[in-house]
Amino acid sequence: MTVPKKLFIKTYGCQMNVYDSERMAESLCDQGYVETSSAEGADMILLNTCHIREKAAEKVYSELGRLKSLKTQNPDLKIGVTGCVAQAEGEEIMRRQPAVDLVVGPQSYHRLPQMEARVRAGETALDTDFPEEDKFATLKGRTKAARAPSAFLTVQEGCDKFCAFCVVPYTRGAESSRPVPRILDEAHELVERGVREITLLGQNVNAYHGAGVDGSDQSLAQLIWALNEIDGLERIRFTTSHPNDMTDDLIEAHGTCEKLMPYLHLPVQSGSDRILKRMNRSHTAESYLRVIDKIRAARPDIVLSGDFIVGFPEETEADFQATLELIESVKYGYAYSFKYSTRPGTPAAERAQVDALVADERLQRIQDLITRQQHDILNSMVGRDLHVLVEKTGRNQGQMVGKSEYLHAVHIEDSKATIGEIVPVKITEAKRNSLAAKHIVI
Ligand code: 5AD
Ligand code: SF4
Repeated sequence: MTVPKKLFIKTYGCQMNVYDSERMAESLCDQGYVETSSAEGADMILLNTCHIREKAAEKVYSELGRLKSLKTQNPDLKIGVTGCVAQAEGEEIMRRQPAVDLVVGPQSYHRLPQMEARVRAGETALDTDFPEEDKFATLKGRTKAARAPSAFLTVQEGCDKFCAFCVVPYTRGAESSRPVPRILDEAHELVERGVREITLLGQNVNAYHGAGVDGSDQSLAQLIWALNEIDGLERIRFTTSHPNDMTDDLIEAHGTCEKLMPYLHLPVQSGSDRILKRMNRSHTAESYLRVIDKIRAARPDIVLSGDFIVGFPEETEADFQATLELIESVKYGYAYSFKYSTRPGTPAAERAQVDALVADERLQRIQDLITRQQHDILNSMVGRDLHVLVEKTGRNQGQMVGKSEYLHAVHIEDSKATIGEIVPVKITEAKRNSLAAKHIVI
């Protein structure tokens, strides 16, 4: 019997990387690998990287510096870099860290098994092409192992928006949408493996326009309605969306589609029209707020989340105040704020930068406001009857943990619920980042 080789994947960055890592692991399982949870003792280490901000990219090189010593303990160890740093820096990675054997960008993951064979034969392998074929159709592993109740499913990749700060259009390429039948097949398969909730992923997911069964373009709303028909699939979510692509059919689906959950991540980045223009966002604060009004008219209880960048080049105190005002008027359930990070090759990188201390101070202020709003929304859940998709056991005896419709983590006390069940609960308490609940006996 051959001993299986051990694969360790470390995933950085966004949910799409989590999805990609799962696909890569499944495809390498077919090559005789089993996944392991530690780098020590692994025969193949893949760092699935993120290039969105400078810190995220730099972390990769320091991690590689640590990992290379493992090669002295295990001469058969191969180290690979995948993801957006691989795409952006390519060969440069092997120059900076010669311990790296393999570099593969996100569009070429289906070629990973062949690349693995090459590095096993003692060569190095590099692939940062943008091939035409649907990589996920070829990348499919044969494993049918049971899955956790909540899964990601990539339906769209790349972005044509070219926001002035963002590397995504360069690292993930032009927008492309997977065909509806492939997505439905994958969703059916996930449900057979125990999945009850699917989050549809795309860098610009609401620009989805994949081919339907008859070959005609289908919108994200049409895809969601098709998924709504799948027995055993109970919850549908999608992320990340652009305000300009919130079409009427998608907004309407939030009001009428039973399985579409009342949560929407809709980044705005800034509340200042001057800065939005400089960011090339092609919307204004006012047009964003109008979209929010329409969404709330369709689904009044929806919980909204957003992304914000502070310290974008030329941002003044007045611009920043406009962002705070926008946040005040929306009232987010969650929000993510980032200090602007210069990304080489993007238009904003050439512009006059905001003083780092000023940006730090703005980040602190925006985060204080966001935290207050998050707590308000968590507090507003107390006393409400919600449904929780149970995902795991909790730390305390008898405690189970899952997610509410609104994506809040909920700890259910004295629970006999099993993983994968959706159970009615009453919210008893709001914690810092989660909710406590008890079962409702029906
Ligand atoms: N600097 C800081 N934040 C960025 N984001 C994207 N690019 C940058 C950058 N250069 C943020 C945006 C985006 C989120 C995923 O990351 O807010 O919505
Ligand atoms: Fe980046 Fe999103 Fe802008 Fe596309 S829409 S360029 S992914 S921030």
